[in-house]
Parts: sequence; structure tokens; C-alpha cells
Amino acid sequence: MAKAKKKMVFFCKECGYESPKWQGQCPMCHEWDTFVEEPVAKPARSGMREGAGKIKSSEPSKFVEVKTGEEERIYTGINELDRVLGGGIVVGSLVLVGGDPGIGKSTLLLQMCRELSDAGKKVLYVSGEESPKQIKMRGERLGNFSENLYILCETDLDIIAESIESLKPEIVIIDSIQTMYHEEVGSAPGSVGQVREATGILMRIAKSMQIAMFIVGHVTKEGVVAGPRVLEHMVDTVLYFEGDGGASYRFLRAVKNRFGSTNEIGVFEMRSDGLREVLNPSEYMLQGKPENESGSVVTCSIEGTRPILVEVQALVCQTNFNMPRRTAAGTDYNRVNLLMAVIEKRIGIRMGEYDAYINVAGGMKITEPALDLGIVAALLSSYKNQAFDSKTICFGEVGLVGEIRAVNLAGQRVSEAAKLGFERCIMPKVNSININCDADALKGMKIIGISSIYELLEVI
Ligand code: TYD
Ligand code: MG
Repeated sequence: MAKAKKKMVFFCKECGYESPKWQGQCPMCHEWDTFVEEPVAKPARSGMREGAGKIKSSEPSKFVEVKTGEEERIYTGINELDRVLGGGIVVGSLVLVGGDPGIGKSTLLLQMCRELSDAGKKVLYVSGEESPKQIKMRGERLGNFSENLYILCETDLDIIAESIESLKPEIVIIDSIQTMYHEEVGSAPGSVGQVREATGILMRIAKSMQIAMFIVGHVTKEGVVAGPRVLEHMVDTVLYFEGDGGASYRFLRAVKNRFGSTNEIGVFEMRSDGLREVLNPSEYMLQGKPENESGSVVTCSIEGTRPILVEVQALVCQTNFNMPRRTAAGTDYNRVNLLMAVIEKRIGIRMGEYDAYINVAGGMKITEPALDLGIVAALLSSYKNQAFDSKTICFGEVGLVGEIRAVNLAGQRVSEAAKLGFERCIMPKVNSININCDADALKGMKIIGISSIYELLEVI
């Protein structure tokens, strides 16, 4: 006798919307061609109370009686990570860590486990991807581990939930959410239904047992965490670990954080013995900068609360095609096009006859408008084949009329440049009138305030 057929429904891969029939466009998030067919999840809610992630009965409480105060935080011992998290891990929070395969997510989290377990916290590392032996081998490159770290290689959420309940760890790592499955959902691990359900279960465990939980999520070609967007809505914090595959720099960035700012970044270097924090990113980003070459300009970007000096490189050369080629690595492509149009119109250089390539050296992605002046200066320097003074930095936003507009935290940028031995600073005139930074930084620094890109031509 044929088995009863499983009931199938359609899910939107983007937002997790459920529909009985296939649709070209999702009515919820309006994305096209995102529906996939999966077996329907059994109504697991009532069963959930006994099984994985059971919910403690809770009662309504009076708003005025709810206790607030600072949330309890655990310091990871890795300063760069603590900063991105907004000052340590919040107890009972759910953190999603996304990034390309091989970028170093497992390494970072294992290092965090090492620090935390050394500090006496009970930590459980759940891996659905590697065997205990593989994890141990990786761990041995990172240093010694203490007794407080537990490893569980499992993908069945019921078993994981039981282990968590009996072990009662303070911190749990789930490496990766795409390998986890819950039996009651009929579909394969990694599918929309599974990812959604698994995250839901883990969230209930984290909140009810006050455990800080880190979930690793794989990233799709488009650069978002695979599985539905709902995943990002469900967790408290979303971190992305990114970097240039070839280079050893790694940047940890918060894109959502209920307990801190979202524009902080942490900088790491991947070494043979694991990830190392980079305490002075500016120095690091400027390593190997060519001296006295045209098309290379140093500018300063504010990432979170920190100024970071970066080198912008431009290559402008005569085009051989009807359509000039343009690329922008590490910054916004459309912004570069716009700046080239401003140069064409305001300075009168026929940019349409030139190919232009822009690169922010070091593999960092920067979209801050203060980078504009650096890009324009690099383009002009390459076009004229004239080296930009290597002791000068410039920053400022460029408007459509060619005006140089004010940026925030100009003082911090000047201080950072002074620290690294720069001697001239080209910046928006508005900012240069009253620079808010310590006198020492200003002592050896020549400040040049400009208000339009014509003035830029005069000073370089
Ligand atoms: P991994 O943490 O496994 O990446 P993910 O979990 O994001 O997929 O990182 C693996 C890469 O890191 C691998 O290419 C080797 C490199 N690596 C080092 O360079 N040094 C080390 O000490 C370790 C542990 C890994
Ligand atoms: Mg991994």
C-alpha cells in the first residue's frame, strides 16, 4: 500500500512566507522567483512544550514593575569582538555569525570558546560539520584549552536541546544552522522550513535558560545568510565576517545589534596559529603603500567610533572601446561614476574617454561619503600622472556642484593622521575652521580647508 503522501507547501527563500501554491512574486517581500516546495512542518507548537526548547510558563507583569538596568555582559577576552558586540556578550542573547566558507567563522568562535572557558565559563560547542577529532586538531593550533569546554558533534536538535538542558552551559555555539534539523519538519537540513524552525527552537532555549548563543550561518552567492530573512529578524545580533580571500585581513562587522551600535568593525589577521587582533588598523591598512606613485591617495574613514586611514588607488587610462570600463573594489560603484561625472562637468576633463579603476587597498569595504575627496584626488592624480604627496591625507564629501561638504568627527581623523606621521591634511573648509582635537596633533600638521574641487586642483 502506498504511503500517505506528505503535504507540500511553498516557502519564499527570502522572507519565509508560506503559500499553498507556487507564485512568481512573493506577496510579502515582493522578490521574484523565490518560492521553493517543501514538506509542511507539522503543527509542532504543542509538542514543543515537552520536547526541545520547552517554554517556561510566564505571566503578564506590570510595565512599571519591569526591572531594567544594564544588561548582564560576559567579556570574551577578544577586544575586537567585544567591541563589535557592543561591549561583550549579552546573557540570553542570540548572535548570528555569517560569512563566506573558509573565512574563519569556526576559528573565531573556537578562539572565543578558548578564552571564555579559560575564564571559568562553561561553554558548549556544537558542530554539525566537523568531527571532534577535526575540531581538536584545529584547536591544537590555537593553543591550550581548559576543562570547561565541551564538544558535541550532532545535528539533531532534540538531542542538542537535551544536552544543553543537562549540561547547563553559559555559552553555546551552533556551527552551522544549515546543518541542524528537527524531525518534525519533514524537509532536508538547510531548507527554509528547517532553518526557521531550528532558529526558533534555539531562540526559545536561549531565552528560557538565559544562555548566550552564537549561530553560524552560511552565506549565499548574493552575500546574505542562506535561508529566509526571518532568521535575521529573529536573532538579536547579526555579525558578518568578511575579507578578501587572498589577503589575511578579516573584518567583523555588526549589521544588526539590539545591544549596541551597528557600525563598529573589528579587524583581525589570519595567521598560522589562528586569528590575531589588529590593534592599530590604520598602520596595517597602509602597509606596502607605494611612495610617490600617481593614483595613490590616503584618506580617513570613520568606522564606528574609530578613524581608520586607508589608501585609495585609481588607474585612469585611455579607453579602447565605445563604452569606457569602470570598476570599484571596496567602495560604491555608482558613487565612483557620480564623482567622475562631477569631474567631467566641473573641471572639464573628458572622463568619458577614459577607463577608470578604483580600489580601496586592504580588502575593506567603505561607503562613507568622506571618502569622496580621496577618490577624486586619486582619479586626478592618475589622470595627470602626478604623484600625490605621500605625507598628505584628504577627506570630505563631494557634492554634485563640485562643492566640498562637511563631514563628522574631523578632529578624530586629523589626530589619527598625525599619529601616523602625516603632515598635511586637506579637508572641507567648514570643518577646518574649528577642529576639535588635541593641540599636540595639530602642532606638526598643516590644515588646508577647501570648499570646492577647483581648490583641490590648486593645492595638489
Ligand atoms: P574556518 O574557521 O574553518 O572557516 P569557516 O568556519 O568560516 O568556514 O577557517 C578555515 C580557514 O582558515 C582555512 O582556510 C585555514 C585558515 N586557518 C589559518 O590560516 N590558520 C589557522 O590557525 C586556522 C585554524 C585556520
Ligand atoms: Mg566552519
